[in-house]
Amino acid sequence: MKRGFLLAALVFAACTGRAAPSVAPPDTTAASSSSLATATSTASEPVEPSPGEAGLGDSLYPQLGNGGYDIEHYALDLDFADGVLIGTARLTLRATEPLSSFYLDFSGLDVSSVSVDEQPAAFETAKELLIRPARPLTAGRVASVRIDYEGTPGAVVNFAGRFPVGWHESLDGWFALSEPGGAERWFPSNNHPSDKATFSMRITVPDGLVAVSSGVLEGTESIDGQVTYLWELDDPAAPYLVALAIGDFERREDESAGGVPIVNYFDSDLDVADLSIFDRQPEMIDFFAGLFGPYPFNEYGALVLDTVQAPAALETQTRSTFGTQILVLGEPVVAHELGHQWFGDSVSVADWGDIWLNEGFATYAQWLWTEHSGGPAALAAEVVAGYKTMAGASLIESTGSEAAAYELARASFPPPGSPSADDLFSQSVYVRGGLTLHALRLELGDRRFFELLESWATDHRHGNATTRDFLDLVGLAGGAEARGLMEAWLFSPDLPPIDELNLRPPS
Ligand code: TRP
Ligand code: ZN
Repeated sequence: MKRGFLLAALVFAACTGRAAPSVAPPDTTAASSSSLATATSTASEPVEPSPGEAGLGDSLYPQLGNGGYDIEHYALDLDFADGVLIGTARLTLRATEPLSSFYLDFSGLDVSSVSVDEQPAAFETAKELLIRPARPLTAGRVASVRIDYEGTPGAVVNFAGRFPVGWHESLDGWFALSEPGGAERWFPSNNHPSDKATFSMRITVPDGLVAVSSGVLEGTESIDGQVTYLWELDDPAAPYLVALAIGDFERREDESAGGVPIVNYFDSDLDVADLSIFDRQPEMIDFFAGLFGPYPFNEYGALVLDTVQAPAALETQTRSTFGTQILVLGEPVVAHELGHQWFGDSVSVADWGDIWLNEGFATYAQWLWTEHSGGPAALAAEVVAGYKTMAGASLIESTGSEAAAYELARASFPPPGSPSADDLFSQSVYVRGGLTLHALRLELGDRRFFELLESWATDHRHGNATTRDFLDLVGLAGGAEARGLMEAWLFSPDLPPIDELNLRPPS
């Protein structure tokens, strides 16, 4: 196997010597190679403690995440009443290099005190929270960092383009959405998908309100007109994937035939008819588990908000969050967010530039559900429609010709493997990302394609993966030709043809 892959890689390298350089994958390994360099230098000689970086070297968002440590666990104690959030965050953090100071992604709330291993620590707040422990942290050392804070949380300008992020008011409460930024508005974190951790949350709200989060509800405690919800997330999660909503919710329990517990929280003002799109979630979970391997977490559910502020859905871990207006999309959006639990939540990107690994896979999962429930013709219709959109179908009226529309489409839909930082969730990442996987299926045939999907979900379960890892896997399964095809779909400005469906860009 190894040899076959090496050979494939060499053949590909030889080809790129002649081919257009635009199809070469960008190097998104900066973050991991810098931590490697650190590990080697600490091994050889003692290094003076130095300040940790304020970013992790993400190719699109260098400010996200922080250098010098990994977080293992977050214990968040949040008290929310009268629009004010009072929080205590206890972070279990392991230094990966000797640190005189380090950053956390946190802004917009007032920090009253910080301690490291129970010793008061100096701190500064500007764009991020800078913490200077009384004594430097040695490499490998596990420290317990406590941050006390308070304030009125708010929304964040979404530097990634579409979608509302940060803290929002719903019609009967509040909610947070955080991809890729936004978590910093309600708890301090190492906000990058490459640092996943477990979470324990105690969320206290006035009686009559319900606090919903990710994981399993371990219990509630009622004291003095307030109720505390204890949520436990036992599998590692990226900070942006932690759900939070406070409001008037009804809890509905179910279970898939395969034994996955399903716990939905539906806002009680919603129309029951609109919620019927969630009826087949148990069936969907078992269908996806059959294709991608066992559901990666111990519980699933939908968290459906009553709000006009978020016409969107987000794959928050174990419990996807849905805005009210997105429900019109029906079962496909339910399948899409569920698909993300394997692709995005369990297998997470190591760099935001690889976002198609989340959105392209979730889109294809959604199409697989369409195929399962509507037959092969329903899938083909989806693929044809998607292809036409990518080729500029919606732009023909304004441009006057198919060819001119395609020119414009090429400019407005960058290839999914190289999204732009200010438009992370461009249609291309979803639609051409999904088409990329369909093209791979046609190339490999169903048996090898579905084996590959399952290997992908299994090999990187609860971890991180890169586009390069994907291309390597494709090379192993289908050789240099399959790998080259994927590179064209992911990186070439031109839309590759799909001969099986008679699809090619206008010339
Ligand atoms: N990942 C979401 C999806 O399923 C889209 C999304 C990205 C989003 N950022 C968001 C939704 C912020 C709500 C808020 O496609
Ligand atoms: Zn998605």
